[in-house]
Amino acid sequence: MNLELIKKIKEKFIEGFKKEPLLVFSPGRINLIGEHTDYNEGFVFPAAINKGIYIAIQESSLAKSSITAIDREETYEFSIENIKPLKDSKWENYVLGVIAELKKRNIIIPEFNLIFSGDIPIGAGLSSSAALENGVAFGLNEVFNLKFTKEELILISQQAEHNYVGVKCGIMDQYASMFGKLGMAFHLDCKSMESVFYTINLKEFQLLLINSNVKHSLVNSAYNERRSVCEKIAKLLNTKSLRDVCKKDLDVLKSKITEEEYQKGLYVLEENERTVQFTKALLDEDVESIGALLYESHKGLSEQYKVSCDELDFLVKEAKKFKAIIGARMMGGGFGGCTINIIEKNKKEQCVEEITRAYQEQFNHNCSVYEVTLENGTRLI
Ligand code: GLA
Repeated sequence: MNLELIKKIKEKFIEGFKKEPLLVFSPGRINLIGEHTDYNEGFVFPAAINKGIYIAIQESSLAKSSITAIDREETYEFSIENIKPLKDSKWENYVLGVIAELKKRNIIIPEFNLIFSGDIPIGAGLSSSAALENGVAFGLNEVFNLKFTKEELILISQQAEHNYVGVKCGIMDQYASMFGKLGMAFHLDCKSMESVFYTINLKEFQLLLINSNVKHSLVNSAYNERRSVCEKIAKLLNTKSLRDVCKKDLDVLKSKITEEEYQKGLYVLEENERTVQFTKALLDEDVESIGALLYESHKGLSEQYKVSCDELDFLVKEAKKFKAIIGARMMGGGFGGCTINIIEKNKKEQCVEEITRAYQEQFNHNCSVYEVTLENGTRLI
C-alpha cells in the first residue's frame, strides 16, 4: 500500500468536501502469458500487482458531481443526469463510462465526489484504465449500496471501456484487477470464466518489468482491428470465437483470407496452446520451459499478430543476449509499454545496467525498470 498516496487523497478530499471519504485501492495487472486471447474466449495468465489507483469517494452535498485526477491537477464537474463521452478519450471517460453503464442498468446514482491518484505508470501496459474503472465501479457500489457482485462490476468496467473509451477490450484486465490474490497469478478460461490460482515460485529467478516508455498512437484502432480480424475468421468458420477453432479449420480458409489474417488467427491458436503449456510447466516447476514460452509468445506477437514495435522488439532481443534472462516478451495490448522478463535474481543488476544503456543508445531516451509483487484485487482500504 502506498501510504503517502492514501494520505494525499484523503487530506485533499476532506479539505475540499469537509467529509470523510471511502477509500478504495484498485490494482494494475501483469500478464505472464496469453496475450490477445481473452477476446477470443481463450486462456490468459495474469495477476494483480502492488501498483494501482487510489480513490477517495463520497456522496456530494451539492447538486453536482466532481472527479479529480490529482496527478494531472485536473477536475471535471458534471451532473449525473447529463453525462456524455468527452472527445479524445480523456481520463474522465473511464469514470463517466462507469456511470453510463449503471444508467443502462436503470441505476441512477446520487451526485458524488471522487479524487484519485495512482502509482501505475500510465501507458505502461499495466492496465491503469481497468484499475480506474474497477475502482470507480467498486467505490460507487459501496457508497450507494448498489449490491452488484464483483463479477457484475467487472462487466460494467469492461463495457465502460468499450462504449466511453472506444477500446473493444477483453475481460482479462478488469478480471485480474478485481480478483487478484496475494502472491498468486491465475489461469483464466475466458470462455467459462473459470480461474485457477497458482503461487508463483520461480526458484532463483524473478519477474522484472522493463518499460519502453513509449506509447505509439493508433493503439486503440489497431487493437480493435485485430479483434475484427479474429471475429471475421470465426464468422467464416461459423463459430462464435477462435477458441473452438483448430489449425485444420484455419487451413481450410486459406483461399478466403489473406496470409496476414491467417497468421493472426494462427497466432491466437498457438498462444492459447502456449498458455496451456505454461500452466503445465508451472506445475512441474520447469522454469526453463516457462521462459522459453515467453520468448515464443513474443515472436508470435511481433511477427504474426504484429502488435509489437521497434522498442519492445529491441528490449526482447537484448534480453535474449543474457543467459540470466530465460524469458521475455511484450505485455498487454502492445505498441509500447512494458516487457515482462524472467531473470536470475543475483544477475539482475548487471543485466539491467547493460540493457538500459543499450536502449538509451539506440533510442535516445530511457527505459524504466520495475519490480512488482502480486497482490489482492480491488478493495476498501
Ligand atoms: C489489453 C486489453 C485486454 C487484452 C490485452 C492483450 O490490455 O485490455 O483485454 O486483450 O490488451 O492481451
